[in-house]
Parts: sequence; C-alpha cells; structure tokens
Amino acid sequence: MLEKTTAVILAAGQGTRMKSSLPKVLHGVAGRPLVHYPVRAALEAGCGEVVVVVGHGRDKVEAYLAGAFGARAEDLPEDRRGRVRTAVQKEQRGTGDAARSGLDAVRAEAERVLVFYGDVPMLTAADVAAVAKALDDDPVAAVAMATCTTDDPFGYGRVLRDELGQILEIREQKDLKSDAERAIKEWNPGIYAASVGFLREALASLTPNNAQGEYYLTDIVSFATKRGGRVVGVPSRPEVMDGVNDRAQLALADKAMIERLLQKHRVAGVTVRDGARIEDGVSIGKDAVVESFAVLRGHTKVGEGATVDVGCVLTNAVVGDGVVLRPYSVLSDSIVRARAQIGPFSHVRPESDIGEEAHLGNFVETKKTTMEKGAKANHLAYLGDGIVGEGANVGAGTIFCNYDGFSKHTTRIGKGAFIGSDSQLVAPVTIGDGAYVGTGTTVTKDVPADALAIGRAKQENKEGYASRLRSRLRAQKEAAAKK
Ligand code: UD1
Ligand code: MG
Repeated sequence: MLEKTTAVILAAGQGTRMKSSLPKVLHGVAGRPLVHYPVRAALEAGCGEVVVVVGHGRDKVEAYLAGAFGARAEDLPEDRRGRVRTAVQKEQRGTGDAARSGLDAVRAEAERVLVFYGDVPMLTAADVAAVAKALDDDPVAAVAMATCTTDDPFGYGRVLRDELGQILEIREQKDLKSDAERAIKEWNPGIYAASVGFLREALASLTPNNAQGEYYLTDIVSFATKRGGRVVGVPSRPEVMDGVNDRAQLALADKAMIERLLQKHRVAGVTVRDGARIEDGVSIGKDAVVESFAVLRGHTKVGEGATVDVGCVLTNAVVGDGVVLRPYSVLSDSIVRARAQIGPFSHVRPESDIGEEAHLGNFVETKKTTMEKGAKANHLAYLGDGIVGEGANVGAGTIFCNYDGFSKHTTRIGKGAFIGSDSQLVAPVTIGDGAYVGTGTTVTKDVPADALAIGRAKQENKEGYASRLRSRLRAQKEAAAKK
C-alpha cells in the first residue's frame, strides 16, 4: 500500500543536548542506534524507499545505515534490503531545512511523503502507517499528522486548534506566547504525511522567524491552513512517541524498549525474570528461562528449554536447546551446543565451540577452543586455542600454554584422554586418544595414544622426619629469643 510512499527521516542534527561527540542518532537504545528504529518502522510499514537526511557526523551515520540496511544487510529480509538512501543537509538550519534536503532526493515516481524524526525510537510501523492512511482517507486533507495528549508535554511543539477543533498551527515550546498556550496538552510527536507537490511548496515558503532562528518543519501546518487546506490529526499513543534529546530521555527510551522486548519474549513462551536485559536482535526458544540481571546482546540465539541464570552476559552467543548457563558466565561470539553445562563463573571467549553435553565449570576460560561432545573441564583452567576430544577430561588448574609472545599455537587432546590437575600443555602439542597426563606435568612433547606422560620429580618419604624437624626449628627460635 505504501509502495509509492517515500519516508524522509531527519537525522542531521548534532543533538547539542546530548553533550556528546557522537551524533545523537547513533546513541544506543536496546543495542541499536536510535536511528535504526524509525528506519525499520518505515520499511516494515512498506514504504518503497527511505531517505535519511544526514549532516552532523554524516560519515558515521552513513556507514551505519549501509551496514544495517544496505544490499548486503543480513539481518534484514531480502525484499527490504537496499531501500535506504541518504541525503545531505549541509548546514543544520532546522527541521524544515532538513526536510527540504530530503525532499530533493525523493524520486519522481514517489507520490506521497511521510516525514518523521530520527530521534523517536519507540514508534512502530503501525503508528506510521496510520498517518499515511489518514491522508488517503480524507480527500481534502493537505497534511495528516500524528498528535498526542498528555498532562505534561513540556518541550514539545503544541497543537493549536480553532474553535471548531480544526488544527491551525504547531507552536514550538520556545515560541509559546501565553500561559493558555503553555497549558495546551496536545502535542506534536512529529509524523507527517503529504503529497510531494504540497510539501515542495510548503517547504519553499518557510522562514526562520521564530525564537530559535530556524526553519521549522512544523510550519507546513500553518502554511496548509492559511491556504484553506485541511490538516488531519491522528490521535497516537504517547508512550511510543517520546523523542530523545538528552541522556535522561535516552535512558527512558532504553528502559521502555527493553521492557517491550522482554514482553515480546514472554508472550512467545520464554520465562523472563524482572531485571533481565534482552537487546534488540536476540532470539530465544520457548521454555527457555532468562533470570534476573542476565544480559543478552547482539546476534545471541538461545535454544528451547535453555537456562540463562542470574548475571550471565551473552554477546553474539549461540546457545543450543537445553543448555544450562549457571550464574555469572560470560560468553562472546561462540557456540554452546545442546545440553552443555557452563559455569558458574565461566568465561567463553570468541570462537569457542562447546560441544553437546560438554561441561565447563567455575573459573574456566576458553578462547578459540573446541570442546567435543561430552568433554569436561570442571574447575579453574585456561583453554586457549585447543581442541579437546570427545569425552576427554581436563583437570583443575590445567593451562594450555598457547602463546610464545609472538604466535598462538594449538593444543590437541584426543578422545577420552585424561589431563591430571595442575598440568601445563605447551603448544603446539598433541595428546593422543585415551592417553593420561599425570598431575602436575609440564607437557612439551606429543603424548602417543594410550600412553602416560608424567614429568614431575619422584616423591620420597622420610619416616619420622617431621618431629625431628619441629624440634630443631623450636630450638632455633628459643635460642634467638634469648639473645
Ligand atoms: C521537534 C519538533 C517538535 C516536536 C518534536 C517531537 C520542529 C521544529 N519541532 O522538536 O514540534 O514536538 O520534534 O520529538 O520540527 N534535524 C535535522 N536537521 C536540523 C535539525 C534537526 O536533521 O537542522 C533532525 C534531528 O537530527 C532530529 C530531528 O530532526 O532527529 C528532530 O530535531 P530536534 O532538534 O530533536 O527537534 P525537537 O526540538 O525535538
Ligand atoms: Mg527531538
């Protein structure tokens, strides 16, 4: 339905109130930059094209958009890729000027334009589509716009209506003229629909005669009404229309977005405790449990019936069905396969592949290590650049010495091998299938299959020596005290 509609999204402002060197629209909400959400809403609403107006920090904003929405954006359904373009607003002279830059980039085929702001992350495709529909439904409307009503709309442009209730004008907070105007509870969340022709004329007419000396997009409303055109208001949900202008509002938007995501997972059959943080882009199978203070980010996927216990932090982690992640385990860019058990306090670093039913216990760190099916390392170990065979057991305190100061080397442990506690395996080194490494051994040579490697000094017991030693030491101490 919106195939011939182009969305123009304004994202060129610096966001002075953020007090940041990062452009405002790149500040994160639930794991994605602010600008991601309105662009996605436009695509989901079915807009044929999206033009994002960039300016301040333009290179960074363009690079983000190209990655997230370009022709090769893997996260996006194929039919939505490559529909986002940018237009440049050279100087930030206000939202009206930005819209003009955007309109210049709209293709001739477009019949209608939806304009909204890049700093309103919670709005959805339905909110945007409702405004487009209102324009279609009213044959004499020049503009359709969303409006919201709340008790304290401080900071937003207010909707001024005439005695018949028709919208006349939007007046910015700084331009309000009287207490009566300041008391108006209806405000402008900033979603507008109009024909390309109308918008072109309206934007050309703008002047910066206002408190901020800027070209206001909102003045297209009075332009329409002064020429006898109708402006249709679309009552909208205020809870999704909050703009982000400073870090306090950023925190509120983040909180609201996270709550929305938690609810989405709960409705889909995941038990999610209060206080968990699940960012946008994470997927979770049904009957999984995510406990309080767990943080799930990036491309993390959690399988059915898995448990992510208190305080776990997962970044781009793929966790299989029935996996148990015990408290305070940290996983990044790794795979944990079905029914494996991790933690508490395990650290699974990038490129680790923890096999089915494998176990990693407390204070075990892996990096670029594969644990095959049922392999175990239950306590206190560093396993870097390793391949641990099926069913092998790595004892407490084992270290894979993978780094010589210049290069990383691989430790290979065969199927069913047993590595005694407190061993060091100096890579590159291979332990054969079924081999034993005696406790406390420093392994520097390959160990053949089924062999025992033992590299510690032989133990000697001296009978009765302990009491002789004690007498001698006591006498020494007493002699020293007399001096
Ligand atoms: C704007 C509206 C206000 C509305 C509010 C809703 C105007 C004049 N005011 O105010 O009525 O209640 O949004 O959130 O439109 N931008 C540019 N170029 C510029 C200036 C801004 O691209 O020269 C972009 C910004 O990057 C931002 C968006 O436009 O994403 C809105 O700008 P902002 O300064 O936040 O406007 P508000 O003061 O919030
Ligand atoms: Mg704003």
